[in-house]
Amino acid sequence: MQKIEKLYEGKAKVLYSTEDPNLLIQYFKDEATAFDGKKKGIIQEKGVLNNKISSRIFRYLEERGIKTHFVDMPSDREMVVKKLKIIPIEVVVRNIAAGSLSKRMGVEEGLPLKETVLEFYYKSDPLGDPMINEYHVKAFSLAEADELRRIEVSALKINKFLSEFFDERGIILVDFKLEFGSHKGEILLGDEITPDGCRLWDKETKEKMDKDRFRRDLGKVEEAYQEVLRKVME
Ligand code: TMP
Ligand code: ASP
Repeated sequence: MQKIEKLYEGKAKVLYSTEDPNLLIQYFKDEATAFDGKKKGIIQEKGVLNNKISSRIFRYLEERGIKTHFVDMPSDREMVVKKLKIIPIEVVVRNIAAGSLSKRMGVEEGLPLKETVLEFYYKSDPLGDPMINEYHVKAFSLAEADELRRIEVSALKINKFLSEFFDERGIILVDFKLEFGSHKGEILLGDEITPDGCRLWDKETKEKMDKDRFRRDLGKVEEAYQEVLRKVME
């Protein structure tokens, strides 16, 4: 399958059309950004690592009955995916307080939450992805009511499966971000699942193994992504 035309270039990936109108190629770059693109850098080989990590995780979720856009990984930086009509909502799932939730609620990072927290953000780079709730989703027609319900159910199932998956590999899934889209009337999980959009902590040492190492200048960024790949392939 060949890339034909560049359709969209994001901060970490490029999307290309293919000869099949239902399929796209998602190309993973090494560029990393944080804080709405204000911080920029390169994480060496991140594109390759993230493509492999995400492909492994999408395959795992498919085996458990979660429908995703993943079709194939034909090369180190390319993933063939089903073409989605993207739903402009970023869904954040949290098991432990960290990042913006710790700040908003004034609690220490690492505080376990009594219940899983689901948050919605309006996917808009110029607005800096503002937080919204289900009323905004309906009032601004970002998704149909039944689509939103299916997204919520799916996000919680994905959390259960991924928490188990990482736990078996000595990693705590602290929080993560999901994006969904529709394809031929179905809602599919889209985008990627990688250390760019998840917080992953070593179960023993609590060391961060995700993009917080880049955001917070903690060093050993590449090493952390390589370690996540090694563990997800176990
Ligand atoms: P936050 O604590 O900064 O709100 O992030 C929560 C989770 O969502 C964290 O795992 C990182 C991920 N995330 C993204 O993937 N993209 C984003 O733009 C933001 C703000 C967070
Ligand atoms: N990727 C987002 C940005 O560039 C946010 C983040 O992951 O911190 O702003």
